Amino acid sequence: MRTHTCGELNKSHVGKDVTLSGWVATVRNYGKIAFIDLRDREGITQLFLNKDLAKEYSTLHPESVILVHGKVNARPANQVNQEMSTGAVEVEVKDLTLVTEAEAPLPIEVKEDTTTQIDKRLDYRFLDVRREHVNSIFLVRSKILMATVEFFDKAGFVAIQSPKLTASGVESGAEEFKLPYFGKTAALAQSPQIYKQMFVVSGLEKVYEIGPVFRAEKSHTTRHLTEFTGIDMEMGFIDSEEDVMKVVEHYFASLLSSLKKNSAEYFKKLGVTIDVPKLPFPRLSLHEARKILMQKGKVMPENDDLDADAEKMIGEYVKEKYKTDFVFMLDYPWAKRPFYHMQSDREKNCTKSFDLLYKGVEIGTGAQREHRLDILEKQAKEKGIDLKNMPFYRDIFRFGCPPHGGVGLGLDRITAQMLDLSNVREAILLPRDPERLTP
Ligand code: 4AD
Ligand code: MG
Repeated sequence: MRTHTCGELNKSHVGKDVTLSGWVATVRNYGKIAFIDLRDREGITQLFLNKDLAKEYSTLHPESVILVHGKVNARPANQVNQEMSTGAVEVEVKDLTLVTEAEAPLPIEVKEDTTTQIDKRLDYRFLDVRREHVNSIFLVRSKILMATVEFFDKAGFVAIQSPKLTASGVESGAEEFKLPYFGKTAALAQSPQIYKQMFVVSGLEKVYEIGPVFRAEKSHTTRHLTEFTGIDMEMGFIDSEEDVMKVVEHYFASLLSSLKKNSAEYFKKLGVTIDVPKLPFPRLSLHEARKILMQKGKVMPENDDLDADAEKMIGEYVKEKYKTDFVFMLDYPWAKRPFYHMQSDREKNCTKSFDLLYKGVEIGTGAQREHRLDILEKQAKEKGIDLKNMPFYRDIFRFGCPPHGGVGLGLDRITAQMLDLSNVREAILLPRDPERLTP
């Protein structure tokens, strides 16, 4: 068993005997002596091999797992500089065990400045994640998840887990994956929408769920997956969608400030600065956005949602004008929103809904929901849906339903945007898209 990790060794360990185990990053053989850079999750340590060991192990394949026992020595000052990843000490090896040898050549380059293309890297994702840069992404993602749970828990939300095998959802049916279910057809949940509303109405009042969301969307973009992790919340007894937006902006301020405290080292490795956003986030109506875009030479037809290009331009606009990465977009047309969004009494043909953009990409959609059954039925009908065919959804509104609203956020997109990753696939261990079902 190892006594230390590579990352933790420092001058205070000089003179001590340690046992380390990890992957061979590189071997440098100088005939009489050799050096191995040994890597584990916490860092890299240089191993010094004397003549006999050097002879025996000079042909070790990179990425083999070894176990070494040896003494910690200080490295000469002239060999050590601040930026060096292997640190100020090295281990003089007394004993080396080859635990498992890696095959050579490796199918992808396992080094920071890799030239392997993303598709190939994803085929061998477990090797790709051995790169410090890539494992830092997933250490941050893990911290985002933890901070999210902590925020919603502290804010009084109840964690729920709703079924992913469903009869059908309330979003557009075209995006459902269908599968056989004992003689019936089931659909993989494309959102926990129905259930989060159901459990607000159940008396839990404020609920959130972090779980898989499936979308049978044949999109080949850098922001679409067919399976992603949704961070969904829903809250009862609201006055308007503003109450939901307030929770959302506090969530991001709290998330980024907690990452600043506990994950600064990973951000540094990734070369990304953490900006804790100021509150409130700016709010822009689609109408205003259209005017801004027009001035920048981009025409967005009335009643159209922002396309990816437009989102990017609005992201740049708020960055310049308000020095922020976040903006709420308001007043989405009824024609573009699902039947369960409440319609606005302020803006004609608009919904009480919003999108949240982060660095110019949509990361969330939310709304106040229509909780009055007669109006909801009318709205559904307008969209060609008969609620009588969804009795368990309709029932939610029949026996005492408070005004409520919520939001759906995407963990993968949040991570990608936060870390300035150019493709959402970089932010998820094993992406699923129309072309990819393995590994
Ligand atoms: O905007 P969407 O489709 O909204 C809903 O699912 C609503 N039920 C939410 C609500 O409470 N009104 O999805 C919400 C978020 C998006 O903003 C995005 O971050 C993420 O989920 N998302 C995707 N992420 C990756 N790949 C996809 N194909 C995604 N589709 C949505
Ligand atoms: Mg959306």
